[in-house]
Amino acid sequence: MTETTDEVEELRRKVAKLEKINAKLISRVERSYDQQPNAYALFETAIALDNQVRRRTQEVQQALRSIERVNEDLRRAKEQAEAANLLKSSVLTSISHDLLQPLNAARLALSTLGSFEMGREQTGLIDQADRSLATLEELLRTLLDLSKLDAGVMTPDWRAFPIDDLVGSLVKEHAQGAAKRGLKLRHFGAGRWVTSDPLLLRRVVQNLIANGLRYTRRGGVLVGGRARAGRWTVEVWDTGPGIPEERRDAIFQEFQRGEAGEHGGQGFGLGLAIVRRLALALEHPIGLMSTVGKGSMFSVCLPLAEQPRDEPQPRPAETSLAARGPLRDARILVIENDAAVLAAMSALLTRWGCEVAVASSGDEAAEIAEARAPQAIIADLHLDHFERGATAVAKVRRAVGAATPAMLVTADHSDTAAREAEEAEMALLRKPVRPAELRSLLSYLLSQPGA
Ligand SMILES: Nc1ncnc2c1ncn2[C@@H]1O[C@H](COP(=O)(O)OP(=O)(O)OP(=O)(O)O)[C@@H](O)[C@H]1O
Ligand SMILES: [Mg+2]
Repeated sequence: MTETTDEVEELRRKVAKLEKINAKLISRVERSYDQQPNAYALFETAIALDNQVRRRTQEVQQALRSIERVNEDLRRAKEQAEAANLLKSSVLTSISHDLLQPLNAARLALSTLGSFEMGREQTGLIDQADRSLATLEELLRTLLDLSKLDAGVMTPDWRAFPIDDLVGSLVKEHAQGAAKRGLKLRHFGAGRWVTSDPLLLRRVVQNLIANGLRYTRRGGVLVGGRARAGRWTVEVWDTGPGIPEERRDAIFQEFQRGEAGEHGGQGFGLGLAIVRRLALALEHPIGLMSTVGKGSMFSVCLPLAEQPRDEPQPRPAETSLAARGPLRDARILVIENDAAVLAAMSALLTRWGCEVAVASSGDEAAEIAEARAPQAIIADLHLDHFERGATAVAKVRRAVGAATPAMLVTADHSDTAAREAEEAEMALLRKPVRPAELRSLLSYLLSQPGA
């Protein structure tokens, strides 16, 4: 019995010891847990972050996919727009071409009709019809050019040339129109060479000069320029009505005509739209400064070019076809009251290399001749206000004090015209004028004494 009690006692002690060890172990485990609270939190955060990263990655992937879709839509829209543009341009090209052909034919037929003997009234009607057709033709050509510029099929033909030649010839072309409206038109050159496409640039400057003259009532237009940082800026100043600040962008859009435009004769509101696109194609920045009530200054900025020294100097495109013969640099004064004939005649003469001055009356011609004597005169038989071509030529000859060789151009095929020419010691050229005939007669005149 005592033995059993002892054993129980012994077992109790062992259990108590084990319980103590157990308690110690548990408390150690609990302590070690307590010492690493961050690890668990980090573990939890990592899991949360991992979820977030996965979610964000999915969102980013979705966004990327939708950007790709938008890009694809944009690419397709761009392709469609380009195709539409090309189509528009090719439709416009063919329409314009198909319309231009019969228009041209009509104008030719009219000019032939004009060469028959007719009364003043009929001639007037023919002139009127021709002017309307010319306007229509110009509008079509302009639309055609706009469509070409849009389609990017007009590529500049870069070359270096003297800018004064280009501006000078434009100023000459506008001289008569300006004088008719009592406006001054001046050009100050500086003998600089620039790099551009002379034909395209010509249209830019032409539009700026034409606008300056059209919208100016008093004063006039001055074309000058300045060099700065390797560039040459052509500046066209006018003393016109000016352009209000809020209109300065709009006027460069198609068919935008300001108040000034309503009074300035017919126009389409296309000139500056062409200027803007040409300047873009040529990469020549356009500038505009204006004060309402005082005037405006439009400018176009070109890269300056080295002036060639030893090599033969290239001419600008409009005179590059100029003949080397007796007409080269010949000073010709054209007296003509019809603007269309005048334009055609001076274009032809300029092409042959002549230096052309134009006038619409004897007085105006005499004034021009006094400043620079012509070597030959071409005068129309009938001028405005019943002035005769022969009388106008006589005024010029008196002004320069020389018997300048001259020719009388007329549609009048009667003997009276021939007699009038003979009495005034002038050659006679009948309309329709054939270029070859004009050229040989002019060469003959230039070989005469007094030329
Ligand atoms: N130098 C200027 N002075 C004042 N207003 C001008 C001048 N140049 C242009 N404008 C204004 O800007 C408008 C647009 O000119 P733009 O040359 O585009 O067309 P347009 O001269 O009316 O016609 P188009 O040139 O087609 O014959 C003109 O109608 C005019 O109101
Ligand atoms: Mg214009």
